[in-house]
Amino acid sequence: MKSELLLVLALCLCVSTKPLSKKRTYNKLLLISFDGFRWDYDQDVNTPNLDKLVKEGVKAKYINPPAITMTSPSHFTTITGRWIEDHGVVHNLMFNDKTGLRVPHKATLKRSEWWDNGALPLWITAQNQGLKTASFFYPGGGVNYSGQAVDRFLVEDHGQPDDNETGWQQNIDTVMGWFTKEDFDFVTLYYGEPDNVGHAFGPETPERIKIIEQIDRTIGYLREAIHKNGLTDHLNVILTSDHGMTTIKMASKVNEIKLSNYMSLFNLTRFDLLDYGGFGMITPREGNEQEVYDALKNAHPNLTVYKKEEIPEHFHIRKHERIQPIVLLADLGFNINSRIILHINKGDHGFSNEEMDMKMIFRAFGPDFRDNFLAEPFDSVSIYPLMCKLLGVVPEANNGSLSDTKDMLVDNADTGGSSGRIKVSFSLLVLMIIILTLI
Ligand SMILES: *[C@@H]1O[C@H](CO)[C@@H](O)[C@H](O)[C@H]1NC(C)=O
Ligand SMILES: *[C@@H]1O[C@H](CO)[C@@H](O)[C@H](O)[C@H]1NC(C)=O
Ligand SMILES: *[C@@H]1O[C@H](CO)[C@@H](O)[C@H](O)[C@H]1NC(C)=O
Ligand SMILES: *[C@@H]1O[C@H](CO)[C@@H](O)[C@H](O)[C@H]1NC(C)=O
Ligand SMILES: *[C@@H]1O[C@H](CO)[C@@H](O)[C@H](O)[C@H]1NC(C)=O
Ligand SMILES: [Zn+2]
Repeated sequence: MKSELLLVLALCLCVSTKPLSKKRTYNKLLLISFDGFRWDYDQDVNTPNLDKLVKEGVKAKYINPPAITMTSPSHFTTITGRWIEDHGVVHNLMFNDKTGLRVPHKATLKRSEWWDNGALPLWITAQNQGLKTASFFYPGGGVNYSGQAVDRFLVEDHGQPDDNETGWQQNIDTVMGWFTKEDFDFVTLYYGEPDNVGHAFGPETPERIKIIEQIDRTIGYLREAIHKNGLTDHLNVILTSDHGMTTIKMASKVNEIKLSNYMSLFNLTRFDLLDYGGFGMITPREGNEQEVYDALKNAHPNLTVYKKEEIPEHFHIRKHERIQPIVLLADLGFNINSRIILHINKGDHGFSNEEMDMKMIFRAFGPDFRDNFLAEPFDSVSIYPLMCKLLGVVPEANNGSLSDTKDMLVDNADTGGSSGRIKVSFSLLVLMIIILTLI
């Protein structure tokens, strides 16, 4: 008798810890990122579709990227809900300061060892809880986490054109097919614009205006596609970005930063990540740390130099071992050049996330979002708990807060993402008590 009782108990426990099959009470979710879409890019352009979304959805005035305002670090904060020091994707390049290895950004998209540092992205967590997920070009979507891949993923190829409007529409059609024909629950879709145009021409140019008009038409196409596919009442959409963009200040208007003016990089350093906008890192040679620091500390009025241990805690980058001993941050618009000044980029990012030019767009619409709702600014780290709540997924430990976003929701009772499953567990408990009473 006692052993039978134990068996029943064990069975109940097995059932309740197994990932429960998903419940249709949750709507599907599409996360779209337009790389480098600064918060105010729609304000000097005719954007009828984005304007319509203000009335028929949620707009945040702007949102804050994490402290390293670069593509891979910021996208990975959005999909994990973790600060950069916790997820470890500290740069667009994969690197190893001991061997001198540097892997260019697009090649990192297939290197699990750069992304898989213990923080699980939402795709994997959702899959482990019975959902079906996919990534269309989203950074980090093409690698394995603890040996597990995203159910469906596409990785951007080298030299793939990023601004082909027909291609953009085909990508939307593909994603709609994943939702309708294959019943995917959560998809992330990435576009490389307006970042490319922002770098090449600068943000305050007719070229940037033109690409925002193209993005606006694409959002119009998306809304039509959602309607045609019968997803209007079943799909939530979040539109956001990874950082903003600012015009690079050049000679002769300013005294540009060139580190080789102040020290011998060759003599004093063994590794560096410089020439990538407003953020840089230096690994001094053994014993030269203080010399490098002293040489740069007061070298240029628009350059801030930190020893790793001096980095302000609120940046949330200091803790990670991939952060190098010397970290450089330039004032808005000053690129950190190492040995020569190339002037390839007319616009750039990497500057402090407190600068308005680094803030980014946030819009959302769909059955669970309120209409005509203007949200206050918040940290992008809080997109993660919002997505978990929308999908009914129990979140991993994270650094976001649902209180930043819950007022956007039609049903904003603070029940967390797990209410549906708690109900199921409760009915299992009742079942267990009935069985026990019968024995
Ligand atoms: C992910 O794991 C699969 C199966 O082990 C393997 O075939 C694939 O190459 C891995 N992908 C990456 C990016 O490491
Ligand atoms: C844009 O993409 C479409 C569809 O993939 C293709 O047919 C067309 O040739 C592309 N245009 C350019 C300029 O690459
Ligand atoms: C680098 O070190 C060499 C050898 O000590 C020295 O001759 C040279 O002047 C140094 N260069 C700079 C720029 O300090
Ligand atoms: C650059 O430094 C000068 C001198 O401290 C300062 O006046 C100026 O505002 C700085 N530029 C920026 C963009 O912060
Ligand atoms: C971020 O979240 C992780 C996981 O809960 C936690 O270990 C870490 O201390 C958090 N960071 C901050 C700054 O609160
Ligand atoms: Zn980017």
